[in-house]
Amino acid sequence: MGRYHGGMATDRDPVAPLARATVGPTPVLDRLGRRLHDLRISVTDRCNFRCTYCMPREIYGRDFAFLPRSEVLTFEEIERLARIFAAEGVEKLRVTGGEPLVRRNLPDLIAMLAALRRLDGGPLDLTLTTNGSALRQLAGPLRNAGLGRITVSLDSLDDATFRAMNGVDYPVARVLDGIAAASESGFGPLKINMVVRRAINETSILPMARWARREGHILRFIEYMDVGHSNGWRLDEVVPASEIVALIDAELGLESLAPNYPGEVADRWRYRDGDGEVGLIASVSQPFCSTCTRARLSAEGKLYTCLFALDGTDLRAPLRDGAPDVELAAAIRAIWRVRADRYSELRSEATTNRARIEMFAIGG
Ligand code: GTP
Ligand code: 5AD
Ligand code: SF4
Ligand code: SF4
Repeated sequence: MGRYHGGMATDRDPVAPLARATVGPTPVLDRLGRRLHDLRISVTDRCNFRCTYCMPREIYGRDFAFLPRSEVLTFEEIERLARIFAAEGVEKLRVTGGEPLVRRNLPDLIAMLAALRRLDGGPLDLTLTTNGSALRQLAGPLRNAGLGRITVSLDSLDDATFRAMNGVDYPVARVLDGIAAASESGFGPLKINMVVRRAINETSILPMARWARREGHILRFIEYMDVGHSNGWRLDEVVPASEIVALIDAELGLESLAPNYPGEVADRWRYRDGDGEVGLIASVSQPFCSTCTRARLSAEGKLYTCLFALDGTDLRAPLRDGAPDVELAAAIRAIWRVRADRYSELRSEATTNRARIEMFAIGG
């Protein structure tokens, strides 16, 4: 009990940062020895895009029932949970969605989260993943609210390819303008996430690399993943990271960089002849579950311990039933302590097994 009490120190209380670190809880480890370091907060399940690999239009049409407002956590509820997570040792918050910028008054939430502190008293790494469509209006207010970093998803510079992939015929020029607005507001370097799909946007790899290098953005190529049930994922649509590196290396020359921190999702590379960095997020060909320190909070307040989990644990009910911080903290620790997720590693093992079985079946 006392441990939790110590862990509940907040930036508003008078405990000095150093003392706070020493009285805080011992970091909770999961069954595979991984600590809880990042919290990804989904602030809405809605999005103005219908990317084919994420929310295909055929499934997420006009009639799709998104969460009613009453079921979505309020800013106060999100802030309270984030505060408790920070007291449990979380040092990085990533605000996501759906598309987080469709949530009204998002800068107000950012300001609340920016006021939170890590156990050692330092600021949290506060970052946002967005499709970029609302950045012209919101980059400035987000910056003023205390947002630290922005990652923009962008799958192609080719307008026709981009319009097809976002599912709503959204012009690439408007996302590029949003990216420019973020830079003008003082964010940078920006990270740009590009999901690569075989035969859909492979030819955009080199133009994106040249552009990002010129603009000073860190471009990350993401292997297309089998998240959810609706995108009709197929392994043969995944362009392996090694192939992407070879392609860029052949034209622009790459060399490997050490990770910024243990467990970094992206493998980092830099251009041999000077500035510029690219990242490869190879969750299919080189899974990184062994260092996965990420928890995910859904818009309705469920805690998920893996991107591929079938279900999460509801934190909204205890929150709304008036559970005190110590109880919520204990629930979070209990969930993390039994966590054994490593979906991406199991997927590749299963894939290998399946290939073997098929070979055997055809008499190979
Ligand atoms: P930084 O804070 O800038 O280091 O960001 P990051 O490297 O954590 O990247 P980001 O949060 O932007 O994640 C980029 C992409 O990586 C996501 O959109 C996912 O596609 C993938 N990704 C992130 N976390 C996980 C994870 O835990 N598991 C899997 N399988 N994929 C992940
Ligand atoms: N595979 C890989 N990345 C995905 N994203 C969404 N769906 C997938 C998928 N099936 C990425 C988007 C964006 C972030 C929110 O998640 O590109 O960068
Ligand atoms: Fe999904 Fe992001 Fe595309 Fe929206 S913009 S459909 S949340 S990948
Ligand atoms: Fe973490 Fe699950 Fe992704 Fe593995 S598949 S890195 S355990 S979220």
